[in-house]
Parts: sequence; C-alpha cells; structure tokens
Amino acid sequence: MSKDRLVIFDTTLRDGEQSPGASMTKEEKLQVARTLEKLGVDVIEAGFAIASPGDFDAVRSIAELVKDSTVCSLSRAVRADIERAGEAVKVANSGRIHTFIATSPIHMKYKLQMEPDQVVEQAVNAVKMARNLIDDVEFSLEDASRSEFDFMCRITEAVIAAGARTINVPDTVGYGTPEEYGDVIGRMIANIPNSDQAIFSVHCHNDLGLAVANSLSAVHQGARQVECTINGLGERAGNASLEEIVMAIRTRQDLYPVQTGIRTENIVPASKLVSAITGFPVQPNKAIVGANAFSHESGIHQDGVLKHRETYEIMKAEDVGWNTNKLVLGKLSGRAAFSSRLDELGIGFDTKEELNDAFARFKLLADKKREIYDDDLRKLVSEMHNEHPPLDTEGHVFKLVTMDVDSRMGETPVAHMVIKEDGIEHDLKGEGNGPVDAVFKAIEGLANSGCELELYNVNAVTAGTESQAEVKVSLNKGDRKVNGSGADLDILVASAKAYINALNALGREERTNPHIGAV
Ligand code: KIV
Ligand code: ZN
Repeated sequence: MSKDRLVIFDTTLRDGEQSPGASMTKEEKLQVARTLEKLGVDVIEAGFAIASPGDFDAVRSIAELVKDSTVCSLSRAVRADIERAGEAVKVANSGRIHTFIATSPIHMKYKLQMEPDQVVEQAVNAVKMARNLIDDVEFSLEDASRSEFDFMCRITEAVIAAGARTINVPDTVGYGTPEEYGDVIGRMIANIPNSDQAIFSVHCHNDLGLAVANSLSAVHQGARQVECTINGLGERAGNASLEEIVMAIRTRQDLYPVQTGIRTENIVPASKLVSAITGFPVQPNKAIVGANAFSHESGIHQDGVLKHRETYEIMKAEDVGWNTNKLVLGKLSGRAAFSSRLDELGIGFDTKEELNDAFARFKLLADKKREIYDDDLRKLVSEMHNEHPPLDTEGHVFKLVTMDVDSRMGETPVAHMVIKEDGIEHDLKGEGNGPVDAVFKAIEGLANSGCELELYNVNAVTAGTESQAEVKVSLNKGDRKVNGSGADLDILVASAKAYINALNALGREERTNPHIGAV
C-alpha cells in the first residue's frame, strides 16, 4: 500500500540561523542549501528576505542555485515583506512565500495590539497578496500552541479560502506536549470544513525537549509537513531535529503512515557541515549524528552486536552516512580528485579562482598532515569563506602573516606576531596568563577593539592527535556580538585566526582606535 508523502521543510537557514551565534555568510548559506538539496529536503526556507539586503541576496541566490527543492522566504503578513519575499523567490524553479501572524491572545493583545477580527482580516489580505505573486503560499499561526482552538479554526478556514496551500501550526514557545499538540492538529483537520484543500504542517520548538515528540504526534494525527532543522538548530533551545524526525519515521514504519524523500546516507555529512559552519559542536550522545550514537562501550553490548547486530542496534550507522568521513586525499592527490570529492560533499565554488585558492590551501595542509579526511575539507572551505569579510567591512581586514609563541612552564608566555592591516605589516608582541591570552593581547595591541571575549571554544576536526584544531571565538562590544572561527594544526594559530576573523566581522568603524598600541 502506498504511503502519504511527509513534506520535509528545512528551516536551518532561517530559524536555525536565528540561534545566537549561528549567523552564516552568503557563501556558507549556499553551501548548506546545496547540501540540503542533495539530502532531498522538499522545501528549503532560505531566509527572511526583508530582514536586510544581505538576507534578500542570500535567499535570491539560493533560489537561483537550487533546482530540486522548493525555495521559500519568510514574511510577516504585511505588503512590504510579502513583496520582498516574492521578489527573492520568483527566480526559483519552485518558489514559496511563507507568511505569518500571531494568533494567541497574549501576542495579539501585547505584541500586535490588534483585535482578533483585525488579525483575521490582515491574514486573509496577506495570503491574497502572496497568491498574486506566486501559487505556493504557506500561512503560519504564530504561537498556535497558546491560541484558542475556535479562533485557529476560524482564521485557518479563511486563509485556505484565500488561497493558502499549507497551514503551519507552530509551537513557537515550545509549550506543547505530545498528546495535547497532536490532538489539536487532528481536531483542526477534522473540524475545518475546507481542511482537505491544504497540507497541515507543524513547527515545534524544543524549550521542554519535546519538539520531536510533538512533531511525531502531529504526524500521527494527520500533519503532512514537518518543519525542522539540521542538528535541531534554532531559536533558544532550537527546533525539531530533521535527522531525528526522519529516522524515527523510517525506523518505525509500523507506526507512521508516511514516507519522506530524504536520502538518509547524506544526514551525517549535512550535520557535520552545519556544525563546521556555525561552530556549534554536536554533543557526542546526540541521537543519529552524535559521535557516540553508534558506538558500544559496555562489554555485554559489544558482545551482543558482534553476535547479532540487531541485539543493540535499531539502525545501521552507514544508513545515516557514518562511514562517509573517508580518508580521501593525500599530498599526491591532484586537482581533479580534489574537486570531484568537493562535488560529492556538495561543496561548489562560484569562480575558478576560488577553486584554485581552495586547492592551494589543500596542498599546504596535505604537506603538514598526512591524511586528509572529509571533515578537513569541509573545514578548509569554511575557513576560506570566513576569511572573506562581509561587504561592509571590505578593505578593513586584518590578516595573520606569521606568529610564534614562547611558552615555558612557570614563565609568562609571550606572543610575537606579524599582522597586516590594509596591506601594511605590523610587528606585535603580547604577554598573557597563558599562550592563547598572549596571542589575543598581541592582536589587541593593534586592533584596540574594546571587545570582551565572551566565548572561546576548541574542537578537534577529526579524531586523533594529528587532527586540526577548530577554534570558535565570540566577541561582545556593547550590544553587538560577532563570531569568528579558525582551523589549523596548531591550536594557537587556529585561535589567532578565529580572533582575527571575529574582528574582521566587526568592521573598522566599530573598533576604537586601530593603531594605538602597535609596537
Ligand atoms: O516559531 C515560529 O512560530 C516561527 C514562525 C515564524 C513559523 O518560526
Ligand atoms: Zn520558529
């Protein structure tokens, strides 16, 4: 018997990017979009086109690039947003406008300061406006899990009549519980007279750790679209994680009457890419994509798995792509092998110069590190993108030229660095409590940024002591927060790169006095 299709709507690039510290450059977003398309997601929510010219450009570029998935932009239920979203996705093979307005009493009264009748009218107008621009329109009832049932039915019936094809019922604040939330979805579908003219969708946040359970419960009750993100990235505690939803449905086909179009062997590579780009590590015990998700430590378990794998494993590691961190390349590998492996990883470049730059970096790395893994390649490319500053900081870039650090037990570490600013080299020296502190002090001798270091995080890119170190830095200046990441075989060099990348993101005008303190 053929099963219903469950539409997988990925919002890593929109809701995911709203996680503090997870912002991505346009190139990084394009890379993630390519990977999502390869993964087989049905809809990619590429961003919020009206939010900034950069967001618009990213949504539009993704709409141009992606061929097999629908590309969607979020918009509030107002004309300017809808027009901007329509403009951004009109170049897509298949485009969607996703418009929303809040429907809970608390949001309508305090945030919107509108009466329920006005909210219905605005929602209907928004959907009609969007339908004049594009056929595929989704409407979301923001804060649905705290909205009144009768009001949700009323507004939903009206927006379906106005042309909405997908009705999304978000648990915006992660308040729902599985039985209650699933029940609401089932009753909406049963009670709304024209519910058969739309697909019902869910979008669950994870504030109580229930996002996946709530989504699955809704699927049981008739939802046929799930909004989710890679690694569960998203506002606050995040969204429902794509990999958990997809694998729960695939593993428990006896319970769920649906199928997805996800090519599950691409799940782990997608998770690693998003983690490398955002600098958000995946916890080792995370379901499906955590490093320990398929490893057995206890003797009894190991014995059982060796005798018969299914004794302790409900999924195969290779089915979600765990064998894909292959030893792929070495220093004798040529350009063709390099570029074809990048292709397989879903990494592409806009220009030949970028590919040449990546290949030159690969050769340098291969000279120092015998074995180059997929994760090294992902890191190398995200490094490259990191070094290109955002447009508004063009020409105001620090660049690390060289450095050495003296660090002996019982003595104060000293960093000597050469950093270029606007093409001019500066010799710098810094002393600190530890070698990393000395490096940052040396950089600040030139930048004098006035920033506070909010986060310093080191991860190994691959297993073993030969691994590159990946460092993530967050700097705060007043209300502004910037992130930088850097990778290198030397932890101190990776730290310097991360700090410099964060300063570059801040831009010259936000540093106090760039030249004071240079030696
Ligand atoms: O959480 C939420 O309600 C949202 C909507 C805009 C869909 O992200
Ligand atoms: Zn959300």
